[in-house]
Amino acid sequence: MDLGLEGRQAFVSGSTRGIGYAVARRLLVEGAAVTVNGRSRAGVDDAVRRLRAEVPGARVDGLAADFADPDPVEALLDSLGPVDILVNNVGIFGLEEFAAVPDDLWRTYFEVNVMSAVRLSRRLIGPMLERGWGRVVFVNSESGVNVPADMVPYGATKAASLAVANGLAKLTRGTAVTVNTVLGGPTWSDGVAAAVEHVAGQSGVPVEAMRETIAAGNPTSLLGRFIEPDEIASLVGYLASPLASATNGAALRADGGALTGIL
Ligand SMILES: NC(=O)c1ccc[n+]([C@@H]2O[C@H](COP(=O)([O-])OP(=O)(O)OC[C@H]3O[C@@H](n4cnc5c(N)ncnc54)[C@H](OP(=O)(O)O)[C@@H]3O)[C@@H](O)[C@H]2O)c1
Repeated sequence: MDLGLEGRQAFVSGSTRGIGYAVARRLLVEGAAVTVNGRSRAGVDDAVRRLRAEVPGARVDGLAADFADPDPVEALLDSLGPVDILVNNVGIFGLEEFAAVPDDLWRTYFEVNVMSAVRLSRRLIGPMLERGWGRVVFVNSESGVNVPADMVPYGATKAASLAVANGLAKLTRGTAVTVNTVLGGPTWSDGVAAAVEHVAGQSGVPVEAMRETIAAGNPTSLLGRFIEPDEIASLVGYLASPLASATNGAALRADGGALTGIL
């Protein structure tokens, strides 16, 4: 299937690793030009190098900015050219004991998980509307709909991000710009792998055994295993494409069936 992305310019926040990297690679394979992002120049340069090696002829560059800090984000926005496809992917997550989370950490969750997309969308959606075509895709989580007790800051900020996407879509009425959300489920991204490896190292359990135990212990997942980043990227790639022209304001699941409701 040709997604028709040849010649489109994309920006993917938080894309040196994990789901964002898989999304960047998918868009490059489909012929889009992609700007990747991470916190450090070295991390971004390394991601650009790897993507060029994996996708011959890839038109990829990168911009470093830490979305926890508004100043470098403003600088990033000033150096971005026109963007046809914005993928609001960057997000932080972690197990947190609710009573022990200080205000500063709550603020960081809001900066990275909510304000990143607000700042990018605020700058980029107007020009998309003027040019008459655009795609904004939010990489969200089933945790934004069903907030885990041990990840309240994560789930709460993902719920806020869902609300931002819902409202933004309404600004596109009657145009060829769309705003959609992908609700991912437990995914074996670099970040999740590092967290599991850390716990496995502390407890002496082999990583593979721990990975299987965690996947099998998810009470609702129909998939029964971790999702691969490429499986999330497939849905993002489709939503970013002209083929998804009648899908707008939607929150679509790539959660392995973890959410149990009908819709
Ligand atoms: N993994 C899951 O199970 C899962 C499930 C559902 C939804 N999601 C969502 O998917 C998205 C990506 O998650 P992931 O698991 O792929 O993450 P990941 O493997 O930890 O990768 C995070 C990426 O974001 C970058 N990053 C982190 N903090 C940043 C910041 N403050 N500013 C700029 N870049 C930053 C990292 O780059 P540097 O290290 O180079 O800065 C890296 O490229 C998140 O929105 C997450 O909520 C994940």
